[in-house]
Amino acid sequence: MITLKSKREIEMMAESGALLASVHKELRQFIKPGITSWDIEVFVRNYIESHGAIAAQVGYEGYKYATCCSINDEICHGFPRKKVLKNGDLIKVDMCVNLNGAISDSCWAYVVGESTEEIDRLMAVTKKALYLGIEQAQVGNRIGDIGHAIQSYAEQEGYGVVRDFIGHGIGPTIHESPAVPHYGVAGKGLRLKEGMVITIEPMINTGTWKMKMDPNGWTAYTLDGGLSCQYEHSIAITKEGPILLTSQGDEGTY
Ligand code: MF3
Ligand code: CO
Repeated sequence: MITLKSKREIEMMAESGALLASVHKELRQFIKPGITSWDIEVFVRNYIESHGAIAAQVGYEGYKYATCCSINDEICHGFPRKKVLKNGDLIKVDMCVNLNGAISDSCWAYVVGESTEEIDRLMAVTKKALYLGIEQAQVGNRIGDIGHAIQSYAEQEGYGVVRDFIGHGIGPTIHESPAVPHYGVAGKGLRLKEGMVITIEPMINTGTWKMKMDPNGWTAYTLDGGLSCQYEHSIAITKEGPILLTSQGDEGTY
């Protein structure tokens, strides 16, 4: 079932999203060589809870942590852990916030210490792919328009678009209908309506889109060991155009 949100509900999700965005802005300073992804987990959970919200991933489908911290070739659902982050690691931090019952979801990518040309280009293309997808999140467009915009751009840049994990409707729970693939055919699929709230969260790989699953049943890795990057926003679809509920304000578009 797809729930259409009222103006008031969208406002509440935007408040939740603003809190989530402020966590990501804090992480820009927090993430540096020598810390661990467990340090990120503790920081994020404390920050969310001390601002009167709930870290909504904890207990979701048996997941144990406030964050997913996926490093280098980990595509998504990396467990926060005590391994020390080193210069040149690419880490994607994904989280969901529940503020007064309103849920938001956003993943952001960070370089630990100094970047490389390979990482810079992958991050730039992944971020641009996200915004090209968001541009298509318009009343009257179709789901396939979003996936097509992302896939055609990322593949033209020589990258692989992950198929096994996709965007989704959000609220009242984390994962709702509709499914929002980051690949597809323009003009195909469900028609987007006023009041839908979805995530767009492309996972883009330097090599193949194919993945392998960790024995832990959660963490996905690139099959070829190449790097993977991800950015995610929660987005409300309105007559006035897409509203970024998790905007960091100064994150740039492309
Ligand atoms: N934030 C993730 C997403 O983008 C949710 C992962 S499911 C969890 O959809 F169990 F890991 F939380
Ligand atoms: Co999501």
